[in-house]
Amino acid sequence: MLTVSSLGGLAWFVLSLYFGKGASDHEESPVWDETLTEGEHPAPMWWFWTILAALVFSVIYLMLYPGLGSSAGLLEWSQGHDIERSQARYEEHFAGRRSAVLDASFPALHADEQAMASARRVFREHCAACHGRDAEGQASVFPNLTDAIWQWGGETAQIEQSIVAGRVAVMPGWADAVGDTGVDQITAHVQSMAGIGAANAQGAELFLMYCAACHGPEGKGNALLGAPDLTDRVWHYGSGSAELRHSIGVGRQGEMPAFGERLDAVQVRLLVAWLTRANP
Ligand code: HEC
Ligand code: HEC
Repeated sequence: MLTVSSLGGLAWFVLSLYFGKGASDHEESPVWDETLTEGEHPAPMWWFWTILAALVFSVIYLMLYPGLGSSAGLLEWSQGHDIERSQARYEEHFAGRRSAVLDASFPALHADEQAMASARRVFREHCAACHGRDAEGQASVFPNLTDAIWQWGGETAQIEQSIVAGRVAVMPGWADAVGDTGVDQITAHVQSMAGIGAANAQGAELFLMYCAACHGPEGKGNALLGAPDLTDRVWHYGSGSAELRHSIGVGRQGEMPAFGERLDAVQVRLLVAWLTRANP
């Protein structure tokens, strides 16, 4: 209402200014400073046309677009509408793509270059800070994920579990239980199992007593507990005597954070596919 009456008022004012009676026949204009007279000449005609054009434009605009109260305008344009429509187009385009990723088999995803490229982007954004840009691991703390050796299991469901729920490894320290000599003997035995150094009979005995429950009698590990294979010559924390003495005497508690809240099902599936592709 306000819009309409102010437009009308403006039109009336302009018309009366130009065509009103006696607009220009004041006889006595005051004279200032001898030569300056305060005339009442109407403004030039081009002003009139400009204002008229602006008025006409406003009226047409108000008819087409929402501007008058709750009228939606003839074009039914609205910012909300526009966003809704592009949202719908977006959903249409990507919903298909998302369910395709969820439905595809892992071999199909491995062969899908576009999916692998998206997976690499997700990895670089969320995982590379710890595991390295190409998942090659870092600094004896963050495991290499490209070596096909999986502490927590290499089945796709196990890798998915590692990502979604995280992992907390519990490797207790044994220095109190077996003493410094015991740690030395066990260290020698672990090295010999991995093919570095000579056998150690006392170490082997202690190993069966304290370590076999988790790592197995032959040191092959147990993915359910995250206890690594000690014979595969792939070390998370290192195979030197100093590193091994630390692993065995003090213990290790590696922790993989849970990403279930941060990533959606599509991102997780892409990551599992990327980590299990043939030549990572
Ligand atoms: C309660 C189960 C459990 C027992 C018992 C146990 N370990 Fe472990 N061990 C683990 C887990 C889990 C890890 C992985 C730690 C990590 O990832 O931070 C591990 C890691 C290790 C590592 C590091 C491997 C690497 O790749 O760097 C060594 C070495 C090791 N254990 C040796 C032993 C020895 C020797 C004993 C016996 C004295 C023993 N463990 C007893 C569960 C166990
Ligand atoms: C804050 C550092 C950190 C980040 C970020 C991180 N990880 Fe880890 N991740 C670890 C650590 C540490 C371990 C080893 C845990 C252990 O010692 O058992 C691990 C273990 C894993 C394992 C198990 C490896 C095996 O041998 O079984 C997988 C799979 C994994 N991470 C994948 C990922 C993916 C995918 C991401 C990104 C979504 C990610 N991680 C982000 C620190 C991290």
